[in-house]
Amino acid sequence: MNDKVIFKALKNGPLEVTGKFTIKGIDGSTIDAPNPAYLCRCGGSENKPFCDGTHNRIGFNS
Ligand code: FES
Repeated sequence: MNDKVIFKALKNGPLEVTGKFTIKGIDGSTIDAPNPAYLCRCGGSENKPFCDGTHNRIGFNS
């Protein structure tokens, strides 16, 4: 796996994160994440920080 972390904004959707990364919660605990991880950019996900597809339903445009 590449050690370089890459954030890629997907059209009208989440941020795709690949590489060697760790996601931590507000309490500092590590959040299990798939790789690649898809992070919500629209603010509508019920499973933050991850995308749950809500961006499609609310018509997120970016
Ligand atoms: S970007 Fe997909 S739910 Fe927010």
